[in-house]
Amino acid sequence: MNIVQYIMVMILCHLACTISLTLALYESEKLHNDRANADPFLIAVYWTTHDYDLHTVASLQVVTNPFATREFSPVHQQVFANLKQLNAEYTRYAVWFPYPKLAVAELDPPSGIFQCGNVGENFSINLSCEQNGGVISQVDFASYGTSTGTCGQLQQGACHAANSSEIIQRVCIGQKTCSVPATSDIFGDPCKGIPKRLLIQIQCNPPQNNTYYNFNYLDTMLQDFLDATDGHSRIISFSTQPNWLFKLDTPHIYPDNASLTDWRYPVGTELVDDTMHALGDYYGRLVAWYTRGGFIDEYGRKHTSNYDYNWDYTEIFNEVESEHSMNVEFYTRAYDAVIQGIRRHTNNYDMKYVGMALGGHNEFGWYRYFLNHSNHAPDIPLDMISYHFYALANSRTDPNDWESFFSQLDGFTFEVEQIEEIRKILSPETRTTIDELGVILPDDNTPGAPQFPMVYWNAAAALYAYAWARISRQGIDVVGHSQLLGYPELPDLQLQPQYPSVSLLNWTTGEGTAKYWTTKLLIETVDIDNDQAVVTETTDLQGQNIFSQAFIGKNGRRWVLIINKRYANIDVFLPGCTGGQMQIINEASGFGPPTEVTLELSKITLSPFAVAVVHMPPVDIE
Ligand SMILES: *[C@@H]1O[C@H](CO)[C@@H](O)[C@H](O)[C@H]1NC(C)=O
Ligand SMILES: *[C@@H]1O[C@H](CO)[C@@H](O)[C@H](O)[C@H]1NC(C)=O
Ligand SMILES: *[C@@H]1O[C@H](CO)[C@@H](O)[C@H](O)[C@H]1NC(C)=O
Ligand SMILES: *[C@@H]1O[C@H](CO)[C@@H](O)[C@H](O)[C@H]1NC(C)=O
Ligand SMILES: *[C@@H]1O[C@H](CO)[C@@H](O)[C@H](O)[C@H]1NC(C)=O
Ligand SMILES: *[C@@H]1O[C@H](CO)[C@@H](O)[C@H](O)[C@H]1NC(C)=O
Ligand SMILES: *[C@@H]1O[C@H](CO)[C@@H](O)[C@H](O)[C@H]1NC(C)=O
Repeated sequence: MNIVQYIMVMILCHLACTISLTLALYESEKLHNDRANADPFLIAVYWTTHDYDLHTVASLQVVTNPFATREFSPVHQQVFANLKQLNAEYTRYAVWFPYPKLAVAELDPPSGIFQCGNVGENFSINLSCEQNGGVISQVDFASYGTSTGTCGQLQQGACHAANSSEIIQRVCIGQKTCSVPATSDIFGDPCKGIPKRLLIQIQCNPPQNNTYYNFNYLDTMLQDFLDATDGHSRIISFSTQPNWLFKLDTPHIYPDNASLTDWRYPVGTELVDDTMHALGDYYGRLVAWYTRGGFIDEYGRKHTSNYDYNWDYTEIFNEVESEHSMNVEFYTRAYDAVIQGIRRHTNNYDMKYVGMALGGHNEFGWYRYFLNHSNHAPDIPLDMISYHFYALANSRTDPNDWESFFSQLDGFTFEVEQIEEIRKILSPETRTTIDELGVILPDDNTPGAPQFPMVYWNAAAALYAYAWARISRQGIDVVGHSQLLGYPELPDLQLQPQYPSVSLLNWTTGEGTAKYWTTKLLIETVDIDNDQAVVTETTDLQGQNIFSQAFIGKNGRRWVLIINKRYANIDVFLPGCTGGQMQIINEASGFGPPTEVTLELSKITLSPFAVAVVHMPPVDIE
């Protein structure tokens, strides 16, 4: 303890309590000791001393995955009801790649007058010449086996069912539509034990130009999201670009089954159309589909949706520095191109944009370049930037290990500080959302990884509350908890794991975990229009055991956030709290809302990783 701290504690004790200074000295000696029977830490609040203004909104991110869809999820209704109950602002909806059919509206490139299908065994190819009222007039190529290639350039593989073309001709010629299942029953088995696909190329009479838009899964999930967040600001991130926009040596084969993961979908580092016009068009059409009733496709044909949704912010891509190895010059051009594309197809100049969504660390060069307006086309807004943080762990099952989450977050605040310096110089009007903040345990996506103990939910909840509070001191606009629904391998539903430790909900019941209830507690408690932080000191001088920050509203409302950073019970003294109300989230509150307690003593016991909000009694009681 240095002399300044010594004096601070002297003053603090003098003003706020009668606890002797020896307590403070004593505490700093025995930080890592078992806290059983230890003396309580004192929390002293200087209610009249302004610390900083509160600007930081607590929010969350929702990521597309099959377990949140109407089609695949038994807890679907519960999931969206829980989202609705949060009444969150700035919720980020990430339409994300590991399930290409859920995330990409145009999975196959436009193919002119050739129409192609390419599916794995036991799926069906659906052909149609109905666009111009035509019929299937020609089968250019058909092969059940191991053929490959892109539409217009299909190539027969070593394994090929000799009668493929004949069969397709027999079934499809002269038909308006035709659906052909890729099965060995129909084509015979040309190579037993080898995975087979069916590839077909046809033409129509009269000729038609072909595109492959399919919004089925995107629509239902986005509708559910927009309904659940109606009336609130939201950030929509169609984070995944069709990978055929990039130069690829061989076409990428995505899973036919919408609920299977494809972690390798974002491939390619160079765009086919280097002007980025095609990239902008893809996003323009996508946004027009949802906000302008439809769009005009690559060949001038109208596709009608009748949707006229709206949202405030569109975020452009996600963690591209890892996914497509984009550098900042490339990304910045792409950001501009996407905005121009959206404007071209929607004529909407009011949409706001969120840029970067960086997942890496200390990438300050990105901020220096992107936030410099002279690196953008004219009339391109820099409304908001975004970036991400996850605390990591060494152990999936040992709660002692999770005490390290908090110091990792401390490290992140230094990064936030440096980003803020850059932002304030280059583009002070640009706001910030840290739109993925959470914890990822080791082996999270390994099938059969051990289930973490329930107190994990509390450790991760405490980390989020701590992050919100620490980052609120830095004036960041939004801190979004990641993410609404993850799950482990679910063999009954044939689902592969999807970051279970990141989930805010219990995937079995759809109920909120401590992570969910902590987000809700902060959303409901924080009042950025009225609250300011006031100077708050504790006798836990290194801050290794507890965190506390007090806030006071213009209306006199006073509240104190207290977080137990330890996997141990910790007692605190909060002078003046007697008669106040505490909402506490801990192991005992489980999958329910915070436990509400009327405080009869100024001593409060916090169980491991507990998060508490104490609403102080009206001032005149003191
Ligand atoms: C396709 O279905 C058949 C018959 O049900 C089955 O024997 C075969 O294993 C399936 N193939 C694949 C790749 O799932
Ligand atoms: C073809 O149509 C059937 C029936 O509508 C559908 O179940 C199947 O998913 C479609 N196949 C493809 C590849 O879209
Ligand atoms: C292919 O067609 C020929 C003649 O039409 C027929 O004899 C043969 O059985 C067919 N082969 C398969 C695998 O269906
Ligand atoms: C197909 O698209 C091309 C290029 O946009 C256009 O020139 C052609 O007329 C179209 N053909 C049909 C049949 O629509
Ligand atoms: C902004 O970018 C321009 C053009 O790249 C450069 O000349 C200028 O020095 C940059 N400004 C700052 C403050 O870095
Ligand atoms: C696709 O996945 C779902 C969910 O995992 C499963 O129920 C279904 O059987 C799968 N379909 C096929 C054809 O493999
Ligand atoms: C989900 O809730 C059920 C019922 O309360 C509980 O038995 C189960 O352990 C919970 N699962 C997780 C991963 O929290």
